[in-house]
Amino acid sequence: MTVDCDEDLKGLLAAGRAVRTAFDAMKKAARSGMTTADLDTIGARLLAQAGARSAPQLYYDFPGATCISVNEEAAHGIPGERVLNEGDMINIDVSAELAGYVADMGESFIVGASRPLEQRICDTVQAAVRAALKMVRAGRSLNVIGRAVQKVADHAGYKIVENLGSHGVGRSIHEEPSYVPIDNPRESRKLKKGMVLTIEPFLTTGRPWVNEQADGWTLSVAPGQLVAQFEHTLVVTDREPVIITR
Ligand code: CO
Ligand code: CO
Repeated sequence: MTVDCDEDLKGLLAAGRAVRTAFDAMKKAARSGMTTADLDTIGARLLAQAGARSAPQLYYDFPGATCISVNEEAAHGIPGERVLNEGDMINIDVSAELAGYVADMGESFIVGASRPLEQRICDTVQAAVRAALKMVRAGRSLNVIGRAVQKVADHAGYKIVENLGSHGVGRSIHEEPSYVPIDNPRESRKLKKGMVLTIEPFLTTGRPWVNEQADGWTLSVAPGQLVAQFEHTLVVTDREPVIITR
């Protein structure tokens, strides 16, 4: 969508607060011994309290309120009986609709124990998103995002997953523009004032794509490889973007 009045911005910010509140509570609660269903219940309750509806449920009939992906799972992991262990890297992705506006955010982090290799990829993907956010400005090429992420990924020695990534959002969960997550010099589209986008690269130590698992939802890299994502929803302006999910 394109934000063209104050009411749009207020609506998006309210949806952003709802997903942020649910995410923060889930991250804080995550510990070994819990199941991913336990974590999802916390997110579901907070979304409901805010009057928000889970976007994956609403738009895709996803069997959970939030997506929780563990270790080699990159995205769209179904909350269930899987028990979290100390040192697991998990990704929680929360997206929701509130009063007609949709916000989307996600983050990979480690449960409990410190794990240097896992921590490094989590830190790097966050640095990649920060670098991309600095480049976002109305009138610039959409490719400033992919180029910034690619630079950080290349420097750190990770691959960018090529069949997952950023998208337009705001009135629905997946809108135009959809765009490739890597540096794409052929990209001809421009960032426009008011455009609502996510930035959500997935970095990996393995091959640069994810595969759908037998459950029909979960997208994973090969066992033993690391994958990490970080996602914000933002509004493009003439200056720095407004981050909806901060
Ligand atoms: Co997204
Ligand atoms: Co998301």
